[in-house]
Amino acid sequence: MGFPKGFLWGGATAANQCEGGYNEGGRGLANVDVVPLGEDRFPIITGKMNHLAFDEDHFYPAKEAIDMYHHFKEDIKLFGEMGFKTYRLSIAWSRIFPKGDEAEPNEAGLKFYEDLFNECHKYGIEPLVTITHFDCPIHLIKEYGGWKNRKLVDFYENLVRVLFTRYKGLVKYWLTFNEINMILHAPFMGAGLTFEDGEDQELAKYTAAHHELLASARATKIAHEIDPENQVGCMMAGAVYYPYSCRPGDVWAAYEDARDEYYLIDVQARGEYPRYFLKRLERKGIALPIEDGDLAFLKENTVDFVSFSYYATRVSVGDDNDEVEFTASNIFDSVKNPYLESSEWGWQIDPLGFRTTLNSLYDRYQKPLFVVENGLGAVDTPDENSYVADDYRIDYMAKHVDAMRDAIDIDGVEVLGYTSWGCIDLVSAGTGEMKKRYGFIYVDRDNEGNGTLKRTPKKSFNWYKQVIASNGEDTSWQKD
Ligand code: BG6
Repeated sequence: MGFPKGFLWGGATAANQCEGGYNEGGRGLANVDVVPLGEDRFPIITGKMNHLAFDEDHFYPAKEAIDMYHHFKEDIKLFGEMGFKTYRLSIAWSRIFPKGDEAEPNEAGLKFYEDLFNECHKYGIEPLVTITHFDCPIHLIKEYGGWKNRKLVDFYENLVRVLFTRYKGLVKYWLTFNEINMILHAPFMGAGLTFEDGEDQELAKYTAAHHELLASARATKIAHEIDPENQVGCMMAGAVYYPYSCRPGDVWAAYEDARDEYYLIDVQARGEYPRYFLKRLERKGIALPIEDGDLAFLKENTVDFVSFSYYATRVSVGDDNDEVEFTASNIFDSVKNPYLESSEWGWQIDPLGFRTTLNSLYDRYQKPLFVVENGLGAVDTPDENSYVADDYRIDYMAKHVDAMRDAIDIDGVEVLGYTSWGCIDLVSAGTGEMKKRYGFIYVDRDNEGNGTLKRTPKKSFNWYKQVIASNGEDTSWQKD
């Protein structure tokens, strides 16, 4: 009982949030490099402000991040000490194809990940690779308009063919796009979209999404052809929507909000655009650029498993109920839930909501799930030895691991594994801050890029080691 044998415990990172080395090894520039820290970040990632190059006025945290480019051996050793069974990381597209549209890949980039995967296997860690985690080579944005352009499907195909061929035998688990539903909320970060004045932004987003769906289906097909052992998953920013009250208008709003997020996963996991989505496009007069054969191709190439991130549940309110307070919830706006506590960034803490989310995704898709992000972003205060007693993080995670066990044990949900977000401190995607930390390992670096980059295990490091060693049975801990 409890977690199944072989459950894949581990941690997750994304290239642009940890690697640094933005111009090393022949790497090209990507959208994620040019998003700065500070008040312009949000308008840029959401596509409200065009910003395609570095300038003097901003600090760009992804340039060096936590310099995992040079520290990966040390970091993976620490993951090994915790007993990780898997490590989720992403490939920086522009390390492999610096501009994105070249015919031949960049050997230095390929070699970097090959070394990294070999290092993982040294410790019995199975890599789980996100092919794109919000990154798109800048050249593809300037020259082609990012994912609005169908040519990106071909460029992505070139990328995945190279990856599946080169890393055959080294990597088995693949995710095609991180949080694919982020296209709708943060289109520059999610799909390299910038908008012209007066452009139909909805059309642009849905078009880019269609192209990413095609690219994802192609990747799934090619992955299976190159190595039948390959397992390919889709990935969504997950969480159930609660109605603010039992007013029918609030319940309907929650239902509709959830569908907005599900429609992409409906295609990737079930193979078809849902009818509610097609009806909505029809009402809005949006014509998707669907070509002959696209729909059959999507139907034939669905994913093997469904992965998702979970941080907080969301709350919806109907138009007839507007006296409510809003709060942050990842990039998603949510009505504040009066029954829940919040993190320092306003994300509401809801372990039972995690169990509900696991159940609702499993009910809907009937495919194995993989929890590939979960955790608490918090301000850590290290002592003179750089040690952090992060009881608050252990408390959050223990409750979430317990809730996941209930979903598996009591409700029968099939879950392949769990990788906590930012297992080592890294740059926040939403805010660009370093001080929003998720890690079991403290990294000495601040928001402005000062610090020695020294790595120090936190209290949660040994706690997670115990969780993994007991296959999720022992989540107990003592407050200092
Ligand atoms: C997810 C992303 O949305 O949330 C990660 O996949 C991100 O890239 C994580 O870091 C946590 O969000 P934030 O804004 O706290 O970094």
